[in-house]
Amino acid sequence: MPSERAAARQTETQDVTAIVLKFSLNGSVVSVRCRPDTRLLTLLREHWQLLGAKPGCEVGRCGACMVWFNGAPANACLLMAYQLQGQSVQTIELLRETAQARPVMRAMDACGAVQCGYCTAGMVVHLTWLHQQRPQPSRADVEAQMCGNLCRCTGYGGIRRAIAALFPAEAAHK
Ligand code: FES
Ligand code: FES
Repeated sequence: MPSERAAARQTETQDVTAIVLKFSLNGSVVSVRCRPDTRLLTLLREHWQLLGAKPGCEVGRCGACMVWFNGAPANACLLMAYQLQGQSVQTIELLRETAQARPVMRAMDACGAVQCGYCTAGMVVHLTWLHQQRPQPSRADVEAQMCGNLCRCTGYGGIRRAIAALFPAEAAHK
């Protein structure tokens, strides 16, 4: 009788019909043939060598793999190829070049919010999205929404200072 591990490996390698996935990645239409259950995080890192989104928990809890999916933050470890068909993904490699991300990166740098940097891309992706919302969320709302972005260096003091620099304490309508 095959061991449990061998049985799991067999399931993994079972022939699943591949799909031809076509979607917008950082503004360009891209195409790849892959299994429908291939995760976006795997595609980004292994097919397109976009290494900004990081594998952390890989179960949607840490935010290290965060990207914009159809213009809103999403964890790339939870998005499967079949969900991407015809959709739009923007990664830190594009976002960091935009005017929207600049104040966020400046604030994180000035406030000492970057230690080893492993969580930083996910933080910038999420904070940039929050910072461009109109009306802008309050600092308390931002801190609550950032609960899905974890820093293993536990450098939350710097990250909170960056949030304080970027967002008013009370909701502003601007
Ligand atoms: S690796 Fe995706 S949320 Fe942690
Ligand atoms: S800076 Fe190291 S994990 Fe956040």
